[in-house]
Amino acid sequence: MNILIIGKGGREHALGWKIASSPQSSRIYFLPGNGGTLSIGTNIDGDYNDFQFVKSTVERYKIDMVVIGPEDPISRGLSDYLSDTGAYVVAPSKNVAFLEASKIKAKRFMKKYHIPTADFDVFEDFDSALSYVQSRRRWPLVIKADGLCGGKGVEITRSYEEAQKVLTEFMINKKFGESSAKVVIEEYLKGYEFSVFAFLDGDKYTILGDAIDYKPVFDGDKGPNTGGMGSISPCVFLSQKMKQDVREKVIERTIRGLKSEGLYYKGFLYFGLMWTDKGPYVLEYNIRMGDPETQVLVLADERDWLYIFQHPSKFTGIWPAFKKTCVEVVLVSKGYPGKYQKGYEIHGLPSIKEAVLFHAGTRRENGKIITWGGRVLNVVACAEGLSEARKKVYKEVQKIYFDNIYYRKDIGEASRWKGIL
Ligand code: AMP
Ligand code: GLY
Repeated sequence: MNILIIGKGGREHALGWKIASSPQSSRIYFLPGNGGTLSIGTNIDGDYNDFQFVKSTVERYKIDMVVIGPEDPISRGLSDYLSDTGAYVVAPSKNVAFLEASKIKAKRFMKKYHIPTADFDVFEDFDSALSYVQSRRRWPLVIKADGLCGGKGVEITRSYEEAQKVLTEFMINKKFGESSAKVVIEEYLKGYEFSVFAFLDGDKYTILGDAIDYKPVFDGDKGPNTGGMGSISPCVFLSQKMKQDVREKVIERTIRGLKSEGLYYKGFLYFGLMWTDKGPYVLEYNIRMGDPETQVLVLADERDWLYIFQHPSKFTGIWPAFKKTCVEVVLVSKGYPGKYQKGYEIHGLPSIKEAVLFHAGTRRENGKIITWGGRVLNVVACAEGLSEARKKVYKEVQKIYFDNIYYRKDIGEASRWKGIL
């Protein structure tokens, strides 16, 4: 079978690795891939937002299955565009992309179908948003730009002045263009964040796993948010009862809601959740897998995902049983998520024996692997328990070096969950 994976990050390397580890044999192509995907497949140079080029690639390489990693081509309709090629596309149609691409539509959908989510209001003009925050007595408040903002469209504001500044940036200065012209303002929720990942086919769903993501750049969750500085799977605090709540109140209500709207969903669905004292609340949906969560999930879940993609109805409702805990540390270029330098040689990769390496911003040049992005490498180690996996991954991380390397030192520290464990 010929498989094309769209994207260039650690998530796509991990999906390719998972497919390559399936007993079914396949030839894997990446568009465009990175310095690590070359070791398991063929990189095709080009722009995946050029849909005609993607279609001609599918035809040229006789692709049987296309797996789309990032949200932008999905929300622009790549899955629909490829539907007449005969290839099986693992990604949903544009008509369900609102779940990620519009916070306003996603929140209204959740409200309509009684899916627990923070109370909210929608504002389409600056003056009414401002007078709303002026009248507020309880802080913090969460301000979310409506559209896709590359993970930067959410701000937690703790005072009227802060809220005014964010609203001005979003709605007047249009920091993210039309994506931030409208906003959702919602209640701040207290609790423990985690994510659940499913593969949907209409009303059938396979849970691929659960994970915790570390978004802020510095230890102790300080500093600006990033795409993700580390991840662990499974989520350490989820009991059977909590899983049952997530299934019933979140996943199944979402599926029933989609059906009631006459929408067919096929592909990955990512639930960004907060466990509160009232149970699970949805912070966001994503119409794709997470990055860096995919990189831990492919190791924590030992099942054959290629088989799951082909037979999505076989595992409906089952939460996978995890035999191990996996911890992932993301190595980044110092300065990320702001400005950083790239082009430095990466040393020590062949000495990694007890962890799996997924490349993100890397490139192979003249036989050397060099840094080529903000998030550079993902190092994942698994063991029977969290503390053992954590020790193992940091031991391996120390063997890798490049100029301006930076990573968080507190991924998998159990003290983070002392209130819930
Ligand atoms: P989102 O893109 O909606 O997931 O928001 C990004 C991050 O902001 C989340 O991962 C949370 O850490 C935080 N966040 C979003 N909504 C809320 C909320 N209602 N209460 C507290 N934190 C939130
Ligand atoms: N790690 C967060 C995301 O993929 O959106």
